[in-house]
Amino acid sequence: MNKSRQSLIAGNWKMNMSVAEGCALAQQIVSQAATVSCELLLCPPAPLLGFVMAETNGSEVQLGSQDCHFNDAGAHTGDTSAKLLADIGCGYVILGHSERRADHGETDQQVAAKVTAAWRNQLTAIICIGETESQRDAGKTLSVVRAQIAGSIPPGATGANTVIAYEPVWAIGSGKVPSVNDVTKIHAETRTAFAEAAGAGEAELVRILYGGSLKPENASEFLALEDVDGGLIGGASLKAQDFIGIASSCP
Ligand code: PGA
Repeated sequence: MNKSRQSLIAGNWKMNMSVAEGCALAQQIVSQAATVSCELLLCPPAPLLGFVMAETNGSEVQLGSQDCHFNDAGAHTGDTSAKLLADIGCGYVILGHSERRADHGETDQQVAAKVTAAWRNQLTAIICIGETESQRDAGKTLSVVRAQIAGSIPPGATGANTVIAYEPVWAIGSGKVPSVNDVTKIHAETRTAFAEAAGAGEAELVRILYGGSLKPENASEFLALEDVDGGLIGGASLKAQDFIGIASSCP
């Protein structure tokens, strides 16, 4: 089993948390970070980034954003550039999350442009892929995942500048999870598809996260799999105990 890749446990807070709640959560996570061996990443809503940064400063806990624009500056009301995210100290940005694809109509092409902006500003892009329930029922999971990898990851991907998060849309926030067999197969296929795009060497290095209803109770069976290099956590990232509980399950 190749667990030479350091696992990454990323908390996607989505559109949750007040300033006080976010700071308290970050403080609790920072205080327990030394108890886990994986890398920890917090992705709060953009207005909280500076507040959470004040809590994570000087710790090993990383900070990331949930989105960025594909330009570095300009007339884009309401958007945030990867350049500014890097400037305030972010190391990561989540791109192409299914909620952005659904709520904002983001296409693979737009996701790829944002990934390029992230790389241009030395941010690691966490690129989200995953099938809907109807695509799964139609037996299209592997072809959907392959198409998203081909379309959302521009040339130049490496194991260092990219993390892939496989998140079946039907598992997000639903309490439902795929079978361990399916995750095994889909993550292996994802690594193969990444190898075709970026080369076998980079594919050995790239971290592939599983996301969708991960909890302390079900995390260890997924995190133990050879091609699962951590998790992207939504609901369970809002409680320090659950988030650290999942992180503690990393082999
Ligand atoms: P969930 O969300 O853990 O609440 O299912 C995961 C995600 O959307 O990243």
